[in-house]
Amino acid sequence: MRVVIAGGHGKIAIELTRLLDERGDLVRSLIRNPDHAEEVRHAGATEAIVCDLEEEHEDRVAEAVGEADVVVFAAGAGPGSGPERKETMDYGGVVKLLAAAEHNHIPRFAVISSMGADSAHEGEETFDVYLRAKGRADDAVRASGLDYLIVKPGGLTDDPPAGTVTAGESVERGQIPRADVAAVLATLLRDGARARTIEVVGGTTPIEGLAERLGG
Ligand SMILES: NC(=O)c1ccc[n+]([C@@H]2O[C@H](COP(=O)([O-])OP(=O)(O)OC[C@H]3O[C@@H](n4cnc5c(N)ncnc54)[C@H](OP(=O)(O)O)[C@@H]3O)[C@@H](O)[C@H]2O)c1
Repeated sequence: MRVVIAGGHGKIAIELTRLLDERGDLVRSLIRNPDHAEEVRHAGATEAIVCDLEEEHEDRVAEAVGEADVVVFAAGAGPGSGPERKETMDYGGVVKLLAAAEHNHIPRFAVISSMGADSAHEGEETFDVYLRAKGRADDAVRASGLDYLIVKPGGLTDDPPAGTVTAGESVERGQIPRADVAAVLATLLRDGARARTIEVVGGTTPIEGLAERLGG
């Protein structure tokens, strides 16, 4: 499988790159800082392409994405950013990447969203703006007509992977190691769970075989 990961130097993205490379998938990693190329290649990316999703024009993003079987949005404006970048990155970045996938006739699109992401979420704090931006991005992905996978994790930790989670359409709030989110994505991309949105937190269900447990 040829996988493009945008936000390729992100923590989940690096774990996902390792997992995909280990099983023989090809990863094209989109990074915004050329100094990160060596690190993503070391994690297993076959290609590292510099592409800032907020700065670059759509045509250039499509060129950076190239050919692939699936595009994964693993980027994010990050906790230090204000409301403006929730709009330009957490919403706008997804929309731009989605347009690139459509332009390049890539059939699948996966996005790391967030528990609580909701286009109708109310409030004006930065975190409210973030949840709304993520929710609007999810809506755009669902409306795209592409085969999609939207993974909405709870609070992320850097704990070692448990290999087990609680996942479903709606689950109780909780935390989850980033490495387990990466493993969930890797498993569902391989096992072909199609057109689905899932919430995921730490739990006791093995990640291996998750697609089947979720209903194929
Ligand atoms: N924190 C939480 O508890 C939580 C909970 C649920 C969901 N999430 C979501 O989970 C996702 C991944 O989290 P993570 O911790 O793995 O992320 P991360 O380590 O913060 O990585 C985010 C990546 O996005 C990249 N990025 C930022 N702006 C960009 C731009 N304009 N163009 C291209 N790339 C850009 C960053 O590049 P640099 O490396 O150059 O900075 C970074 O590599 C995010 O979407 C986040 O919103 C987070």
